[in-house]
Amino acid sequence: MQTYNQLLLSNKVWAKEKVYDDPEFFKRLADVQHPEFLWIGCSDSRVPANEITDTQPGEIFVHRNVANLVVNTDVNLLAVLDYAVNSLKVKHVIVCGHYGCGGVKAALTNHDLSPMLNVWLRNIKDVYRIHRTELDAITDTEQKTDRMVELNVQEQVFNLAKTAIIQRAWKHRQGPHLHGWVYGLKDGLIKPVFEMPAGTHIDELYEYDDL
Ligand code: CO
Repeated sequence: MQTYNQLLLSNKVWAKEKVYDDPEFFKRLADVQHPEFLWIGCSDSRVPANEITDTQPGEIFVHRNVANLVVNTDVNLLAVLDYAVNSLKVKHVIVCGHYGCGGVKAALTNHDLSPMLNVWLRNIKDVYRIHRTELDAITDTEQKTDRMVELNVQEQVFNLAKTAIIQRAWKHRQGPHLHGWVYGLKDGLIKPVFEMPAGTHIDELYEYDDL
C-alpha cells in the first residue's frame, strides 16, 4: 500500500473514534470556531501545535513557516494575524520555536543554500546581528544555537508588536497578549522565554500614535 493511503485510512479511524467519544464533536465544529490562541510555529514535522499542547481541533489557529518568523512583508502571515486578531479575536498569540531548529542552524552558517532559503534565513541573521555581543561570547555551537532560538522567538514577538494590527488591537481591546515559547525536541517540554502583555511599550520608533 502507498504510504499516503495509510494517512487516509488513519483519518477514517480517527473520525470514527471522535464520534464514538463525542457524537456532537464534528457538528459543533462545523458551524463555527472560537480559538483563543494564534500559534506561529516552525514547519518542522516534530513540532505539531495541537499534539504538543494536547489541544483539540477548534482550539488553536495555526500558522507555521520555516523557523517561526514574523516577517513584516509576509502577506501570508499578516493575513493570518489580521484574521486571528480582528475576526477571531484571539486572546493570545504564541510564537513557538524549538531547540535544534534546522532553519536557525542553517542561518548560523555561511552556506549559499538556495535563493529562496537565503532570502528567508537572512531574517535570522539580522536577529543575530542585534544580539551579536551575547552570541559571539558563546563558544559551544549547540548552546549558541539554543540561545539563538530563544532570541529569535523574542525578536519575532517584537515583530508582532511592531505591526499596526497588534497595536490597534491593544488600543481598542487590550489584547491579545504575546508570548514567546521554545519547545524541547529532547524532552517534549515547552519553555516560556519571553512575554509581552497587551499595551507594552516598544521602541517609540515603531509605535503608531494615530491608530
Ligand atoms: Co525549526
